[in-house]
Amino acid sequence: MTAALSSNAPKPLLAALCGVRQPVPPIWLMRQAGRYLPEYRAIRAEAPSFLEFCYNPRLAAEATLQPIRRFGFDAAILFSDILVTPHALGQSVSFESGDGPRLQPIESAADYAALREELDWARLEPVFETIERVKANLPAEVALIGFCGAPWTVASYMIAGRGTPDQTPARLFAYRQPDLFAALIDRLADVSAEYLARQFRAGAEAAQIFDSWSGVLPPAEFERWCVKPIERMLARLRASAPRPPIIAFPRGAATRLAEFAALGGLAGVGLDTAVEPAAAAAALPAPLALQGNLDPVALVAGGRALDEGVERALRGFAGRAHIFNLGHGVLPQTPIAHVERLVARVRAG
Ligand code: CP3
Repeated sequence: MTAALSSNAPKPLLAALCGVRQPVPPIWLMRQAGRYLPEYRAIRAEAPSFLEFCYNPRLAAEATLQPIRRFGFDAAILFSDILVTPHALGQSVSFESGDGPRLQPIESAADYAALREELDWARLEPVFETIERVKANLPAEVALIGFCGAPWTVASYMIAGRGTPDQTPARLFAYRQPDLFAALIDRLADVSAEYLARQFRAGAEAAQIFDSWSGVLPPAEFERWCVKPIERMLARLRASAPRPPIIAFPRGAATRLAEFAALGGLAGVGLDTAVEPAAAAAALPAPLALQGNLDPVALVAGGRALDEGVERALRGFAGRAHIFNLGHGVLPQTPIAHVERLVARVRAG
């Protein structure tokens, strides 16, 4: 939280998403709420399952606010999961402790036909209530970020039924049954855009689209299953919310990053750890805000690795609207003292 902001000054994160470079880059971290926090582990134990935790507005709002209280980040990210979307389409979803998500895999046209056409809004009602609760308790200068998974990343879990090393089941499905896969992707794009529109209506001020698995696709498939569906989402979103600030995180996009960043309607792009900050700052068009991209493992290591990584990002992105973040989520073994040191160094400039 930047000091001495008057209550009507724009929140630093939102200003950066308008392309305005901030003297001190706003900072938040992907997975800033989670198992590395003892206070998260304590409240997580109050719910019998991870999904019930996500759908409990009191607990989810508390998890959203915990990292803000502890570290004073510039943004809170709604506590939920990208897999509530397939759940609200009627697919069975559960999280095995320590073993990741489990879904009833989509293998056939009949499995696809069994999905709902619209999200079950009653099931998602607790998410909107969580947003309202967080909004009512957020410091004035802190922005609230909503989110959803990108169609390709969500589809890859829906088809495999679990996380896999390279999402081969979904890639195979897309090659073998392209029309059916396209129908699934279009449905996810449409319901996800509506889901984000409703998050904005409930009080979210920005939103991030997580395409965590875009890096496994060859160029033609990247264009078809990552770029186009997100373009479709952005077009639909623009129709319902004027200029909603959207950050997209195409993890692993590598040489396709410039093509991705050229998508009309993006306010920011999330950069993974493979990207050299100064090169990205030179290659990607202003006024797009650049978000990232410290290695989460450097945050676990601390010391020189952390300090040098922070320096490289601050220097490399210096001329741009920059939002400090990691290149992927906070790891559970991350020491809290390292996060404190990170925030202090970013704010020290
Ligand atoms: O960032 C935040 O603090 C907000 C909450 C959030 C979670 N998941 C909470 C969570 C967000 C934004 C996500 C996004 C998400 N979920 C992604 C995209 C980002 C990425 O990491 O690539 C993906 C792929 C998922 C799907 C998912 N959820 C997996 C594969 C897992 C298991 C792996 C793991 O880390 O446990 C989850 C579970 C999950 N989602 C946890 C949390 C805090 C851990 C659950 C627990 O408390 O045990």
